[in-house]
Amino acid sequence: MKVLSVVGARPQFVKLAPIAHEAARRGVEHTIVHTGQHYDPMLSDVFFEDLQIPAPAVHLGVGSGSHGRQTGQMLAALDDVLDTHVPDWVLVYGDTNSTLAAALAAVKQHVPVAHLEAGLRSFNRRMPEEHNRVLTDHAADLLLAPTQGAMDHLAAEGLAPRAVLVGDVMTDVLLRVRDQVAGAVPPLLAEQSLEPGGYYLATIHRAESTDDPARLAAILASLAELDAPVVLLAHPRLVARSRDAGIALERGVLRPHTSLPYPELVAAASQARGIVTDSGGLQKEAFLLRTPCTTVRTETEWVETVELGWNVLAEPGPELVAAAQRPRPADTEATPYGDGAAAARVLDALAAPPTA
Ligand code: UD1
Repeated sequence: MKVLSVVGARPQFVKLAPIAHEAARRGVEHTIVHTGQHYDPMLSDVFFEDLQIPAPAVHLGVGSGSHGRQTGQMLAALDDVLDTHVPDWVLVYGDTNSTLAAALAAVKQHVPVAHLEAGLRSFNRRMPEEHNRVLTDHAADLLLAPTQGAMDHLAAEGLAPRAVLVGDVMTDVLLRVRDQVAGAVPPLLAEQSLEPGGYYLATIHRAESTDDPARLAAILASLAELDAPVVLLAHPRLVARSRDAGIALERGVLRPHTSLPYPELVAAASQARGIVTDSGGLQKEAFLLRTPCTTVRTETEWVETVELGWNVLAEPGPELVAAAQRPRPADTEATPYGDGAAAARVLDALAAPPTA
């Protein structure tokens, strides 16, 4: 079996890691294609190094651009890649423009497509990621769902016959890295003179948060008011948009900081008093680490984190401040994201898909 994984953005490198390891363990031929959507070393190379992912066989070097230009360049370039490698499966991850481009390129060439993290829905049609995931699910031949909720969404759209519940591959990585960093002082704490439980960690990068200057200013003003230092891990989009809008990142308790390598992020997140984010992955990582999370969005794909009390959706302003400073919720033993062995189920499903 020849599997060709297409990745391009930071969260996809995390999801790729357990798949690459499991493929290697089983002797499955696995080719990695990097679209180049994320090209900063801190958003890309460090993930390959820290998570011991083999270097991509192909790098498309597409880089930034409007959605149409970025997606279109990937689509065009992938034609030749598929001609050269002739895989049995193209495996696509999550909901980025790289996901959609690879799914389209493959179906046009009649190469079977498997979508990892299928069935997630925000039902917010303003989000580019929502279109990417819906279109990818409907194009794909095999839908690898992380949760029962995702399976239910796929069934509601008539896609149940192609769906398999595999669990969440990010959980595989998180649990492994959590155990690796346990007991050590997170480098961020020493560098910033922070105490365990005495700071918040924040990330804000989605277009809905960054591209409207009034909303961006309101989010940053709320973060700056919290009752402990807030380390703001600044994505390039946040840095660019705040600079364009003339909004300062450094004020109040806010401490802007470059993005962290994955093991350092996990260590810093596990010791934080709370996390404030608009990221999908970090909401779930916060839950798995049992760090209270506040999500600056009106909806989430990871509803289990909210239902179990570990994540609160809040709008900027007093609501966000109160949510971030709320007391710790009651502990839970729930495992809605699986047991950390999702990658093995992904490889099993590729070897014997339900429609075969
Ligand atoms: C993308 C994904 C999003 C995912 C996120 C993780 C889409 C539509 N969105 O959003 O689902 O959660 O990645 O980070 O695919 N930039 C750099 N250096 C880089 C990459 C980007 O400076 O290495 C800047 C560019 O100015 C670019 C902006 O960041 O315009 C946004 O990058 P883009 O790839 O469009 O999407 P993200 O916001 O990162």
